Amino acid sequence: MSGKLWGGRFQNSAEQWVDEFGASIGFDQQLVTEDLEGSIAHVTMLGACGILSQDEVNTIKDGLHQLQQKATEGSLEFSIANEDIHLNLEKMLIDLVGPVGGKLHTGRSRNDQVATDMHLFLKKRLQEVISLIEAFQKAIVTQAEDNIDTLAPGYTHLQRAQPISFAHHLMTYFWMLERDKQRFQDSLKRTDISPLGAGALAGTTFPIDREMSAELLGFSAVYQNSMDAVSDRDFIVEFLSNGSLLMAHLSRFAEEIILWSSEEFKFIELDDAFSTGSSIMPQKKNPDMAELIRGKAGRVYGNLMGLLTVLKGIPLAYNKDMQEDKEGMFDTLHTIVGSLKIFEGMVRTMTVAKETLHKAVHQDFSNATELADYLATKGMPFREAHEVTGKLVFLCIQRGIYLLDLSIEDLQEASSLIESDVYDVLAPEAAVQRRHSLGGTGFEQVKIQIAKAKECI
Ligand code: ARG
Repeated sequence: MSGKLWGGRFQNSAEQWVDEFGASIGFDQQLVTEDLEGSIAHVTMLGACGILSQDEVNTIKDGLHQLQQKATEGSLEFSIANEDIHLNLEKMLIDLVGPVGGKLHTGRSRNDQVATDMHLFLKKRLQEVISLIEAFQKAIVTQAEDNIDTLAPGYTHLQRAQPISFAHHLMTYFWMLERDKQRFQDSLKRTDISPLGAGALAGTTFPIDREMSAELLGFSAVYQNSMDAVSDRDFIVEFLSNGSLLMAHLSRFAEEIILWSSEEFKFIELDDAFSTGSSIMPQKKNPDMAELIRGKAGRVYGNLMGLLTVLKGIPLAYNKDMQEDKEGMFDTLHTIVGSLKIFEGMVRTMTVAKETLHKAVHQDFSNATELADYLATKGMPFREAHEVTGKLVFLCIQRGIYLLDLSIEDLQEASSLIESDVYDVLAPEAAVQRRHSLGGTGFEQVKIQIAKAKECI
């Protein structure tokens, strides 16, 4: 006898270290709430379908409620000998209410049970992730609204390219997050399906009502194929994949925060709450949280690769390999929740160095396109305008000045098309103002964009 709930056909017991290797209780105890919810729905359905007597149902439910109570108090004691959350709770139930507790598992298998737990768990957490994304989006909008007329250098190749509204730059991340949010929302549809009642793989001989248990659990639909129900982990892959893309976005933003808060840029200052000092260099204020988030993208991608690899070669239906779906999922959830919370606070409390940004934009050549466009508007072919402007930039570099510092004589020597109105055109404010094409950085367009964004949150 092995002493296990499934030990009937076993003569010898496994050695303890083998049990330890196979056990998932160390991590799947995080499913305790969902496992109990699933059992309550299942036993309610068994009663309604006349499979268990009302007395039996009441006794079992009473026991499950006691376990819920203990779970809330944190007084459940899990044991590796009982392998996983399902067997641990079933054992506790039988200890509490006697052998009738053994009737709970009628018409059910751990295979549909664990799948149900995972669906329930992710469904709840997805809502949490979605609202955290939204909170972060709000912080971005608030900073953007405060910086519509803050001029900043816009970059390509990390070289100053054209002046922009700093709000326009910030809002780019808003839209990335909006797509992330939509992806999580969309995946909710495929998470919101009940596998319960699929049994081990083939369904069950008991006259169960799967739609009833699904409804009791708040699921919108049931799986149409019992083998698919117990072997589908696509909804977890989707979660890990959406989490990965979210982390890619956070990591890009983190990189900019790190650059901007450096002595080299000084475009922002992070609040003390989101920075740390150095143990040896007293002058330092490090953007540790941003760096950490940039780094954490790695583990989230790893979790995605891990599960895809686990799934790629397993035959239908359930295989123990699938137990490996959990730790990565918990880890990704924990990581993205933490990263979103930190990022929201970091962006909400950062100070934008408007003066430095203003100076930066007035001491560079990011208005060169304006001059080329100006000449093109006056009839010069754009290629030629580009050439003329390039030569003037070169002249400035030689003299250590910027385009706006050139005298009208210097400018007219380069092209007789240039008149004194050029100075207005070269002002960075004007360069931004004039980019009024839809979705452009023109101040009015940025305001329209922010108004549209606010409709999403
Ligand atoms: N702990 C298992 C898991 O997470 C539960 C399902 C076990 N089913 C089985 N037939 N061994 O996948």
